[in-house]
Amino acid sequence: MCGSRCPPPIGWADSIGRDLLSRMIWGGRVTIFVAACATLIAFITGVVLGFLAAVAGGWVDQALSRLVDLMMSIPAPPGTTALLSIRGVTARYPGVPVDVLRDITLDLAPGQTLAVVGESGSGKSTLARAITGLLPPTQGEILFDGRALPPKLAGRSQDDLRELQMIYQMADTAMNPRQTVGTIIGRPLQFYFGLRGAEKRKRILELLEEIELGAGFADRYPAELSGGQKQRVCIARALAAKPRPILCDEVTSALDPLVADGILKLLLDLQREEGVAYLFITHDLATVRAIADQIAVMYRGKVVRSGPKAEVLAPPFDDYTDLLLSSAPEMRQGWLEEVIAHRKMAAGGN
Ligand SMILES: Nc1ncnc2c1ncn2[C@@H]1O[C@H](COP(=O)(O)OP(=O)(O)OP(=O)(O)O)[C@@H](O)[C@H]1O
Ligand SMILES: [Mg+2]
Repeated sequence: MCGSRCPPPIGWADSIGRDLLSRMIWGGRVTIFVAACATLIAFITGVVLGFLAAVAGGWVDQALSRLVDLMMSIPAPPGTTALLSIRGVTARYPGVPVDVLRDITLDLAPGQTLAVVGESGSGKSTLARAITGLLPPTQGEILFDGRALPPKLAGRSQDDLRELQMIYQMADTAMNPRQTVGTIIGRPLQFYFGLRGAEKRKRILELLEEIELGAGFADRYPAELSGGQKQRVCIARALAAKPRPILCDEVTSALDPLVADGILKLLLDLQREEGVAYLFITHDLATVRAIADQIAVMYRGKVVRSGPKAEVLAPPFDDYTDLLLSSAPEMRQGWLEEVIAHRKMAAGGN
């Protein structure tokens, strides 16, 4: 019916004589060429912008930071980029009649940091427990690379466990005091990758270099380390598993500010080098400002505000975010409500 303008049947030569295989090879080449060009353009643009910001500083640096924030805030098509996707998660503790997490929906993109902030008791650590399978949700699901994770820890594969690591606030209690640093870091190397002997020792020393402690620490016990050094060992143990996201629950809260800054810098360096993503739980807004790409504000088990950092930190604010941003939040449940009630009473009395 369409005569000479009909497309050739699949497998046959096209109008310039190429068969199916040649057409596939040509298509593959074009794809690789386009991907290489896009990578090159992104690399050159990144280097030039970074160089400009570093050399000029001041308002140029500020303007470029805002431009990058703006670009990061362009939403990607749903389901195409999230490494970890929390979909409508509701959870409660056994024997407790109320939901501690209520319909939480959040995405963590590869290589990015999602900061989860909120007053004490708002459900931040519970969210991490639901993600790691320690507290299976009663509703909703957690997708990893688009695949639903088994809700219970026991149902997860060894790879699921390996790829999702967690670092806690109290580095002290997270380590066995009777094991040396080398043994602590070596366990995941043996468990997940079957490394032993010299091969394992070599990797332990590499990891100690990565966390800026050095080989001399391999034979020390936790009691012989400072708080910051202990947290570095916990980071190395998590890194040993080659995770993709690391869930960090108040990992700098127990450290003095200078040591905490060192840990944050290390985490950011590791993110740049290894592309690891962080779900970073904290009540410290200075930390959020320094490290977050995305922010989720939690209150009473719900996410009350979320999005790219530039958006969440820009007015207009809801009551809770406003308070979180304008005060040093207290580690006490009910603190936000009390302050809001006081403010409303003061406003009514005037
Ligand atoms: N094991 C548990 N059993 C029952 N309820 C719990 C348990 N752990 C926490 N909760 C409750 O769940 C709620 C959320 O607690 P969660 O530890 O997630 O808060 P958080 O935001 O991490 O607080 P913080 O900033 O103090 O660490 C709180 O009301 C808490 O009392
Ligand atoms: Mg907590």
